[in-house]
Amino acid sequence: MKRIGVLTSGGDTPGMNAAIRAVLKIGIHYGYAVMGVYHGYNGLIDGRIHQLQHSDVDNMIHKGGTLLRTARCEAFKTEEGVQKALKVIRAYNLEGIVVIGGDGSARGAQVLHQKGVPTMLLPGTIDNDMGFTDYTIGFDTASNSVMTEIYKIRDTMRSHDRVGVLEVMGRSSGDIALRAGLAGGADIVLVPEKKRDWSAAADHLVANKLKGKLTSIVIMAEGAGSADDFKLFVRNNTDVDIRSIVLGYIQRGGQPTAFDRVLATRLGARAVELLEQGSSGRAVGMRDNAIIDMDIDEALAMPPRFDMSLLELNDILAKF
Ligand code: ADP
Ligand code: F6P
Repeated sequence: MKRIGVLTSGGDTPGMNAAIRAVLKIGIHYGYAVMGVYHGYNGLIDGRIHQLQHSDVDNMIHKGGTLLRTARCEAFKTEEGVQKALKVIRAYNLEGIVVIGGDGSARGAQVLHQKGVPTMLLPGTIDNDMGFTDYTIGFDTASNSVMTEIYKIRDTMRSHDRVGVLEVMGRSSGDIALRAGLAGGADIVLVPEKKRDWSAAADHLVANKLKGKLTSIVIMAEGAGSADDFKLFVRNNTDVDIRSIVLGYIQRGGQPTAFDRVLATRLGARAVELLEQGSSGRAVGMRDNAIIDMDIDEALAMPPRFDMSLLELNDILAKF
């Protein structure tokens, strides 16, 4: 029986399980045995590989995290590590591999492709920092989770007439901050894509206070700075009562949204179709609601997109 492998790599995201489920089911549809590779590229190096059964993905589409586990694997960045993985791939007769992960994982997938292993890359990261696709798997869920937390924080800040600054994930991307901030009615969104003077932000909070708006919400993308530092800056320069909150991993776990489940399912299905058609080295993503694919090299060369007009819109909304 023909065999393909599937692995998740880098940070986990809600929706990875939905993608694995789609790879398994569409794989079976095309007559493949689908092998789960555990703990990212480590599993390829050490042979942590088991055939996936229907029961593995039963009742999994709604679960966050990844049933295959994930990891960051330094060894795979070395030629020695890659050679070990190639031996394992041959030993298990894997005729193709689907990698689900972010930028780094895509580089690993490109290495496999260059070594002659038919490989597909699905964008799996909450950061939405891969320019070739409008959305990465997990971003919608993460930004919804942040939005939900904003309202909990707003309740308590409002009760005490305080300002809350929430630090959110995204690595060097401000997309989670922007989307959650816009959806959550944030007064200020600080992102790495647009450097802002913290004095102006503090002045804005003071102006809000003077006009009777005692509670403001600031969203700080981790790439733009730390919520704690911003809190201290505001405390040292104004009389605004401010608290800082670092949301952390709460925004990376949890049930994927319908959007992420459908995206992951469509991408997973397309990746297997492409392998079946004999393609390799392709990144599979979504543009204008259509599933697209392109060379991983080309995909990696595309800078992350950030919709500055949404940030400007939020700034205008926050004035009034
Ligand atoms: P993400 O995929 O979420 O961006 P990382 O950047 O941590 O996460 O990368 C995940 C893994 O991908 C790394 O731990 C490593 O195993 C693999 N990887 C990253 N860069 C390379 C590379 N240049 N060559 C081979 N493998 C890589
Ligand atoms: O890339 C996903 C992400 O959650 C980033 O938003 C964050 O900066 C990073 O991973 C955290 O990584 P770790 O799991 O190693 O703490």
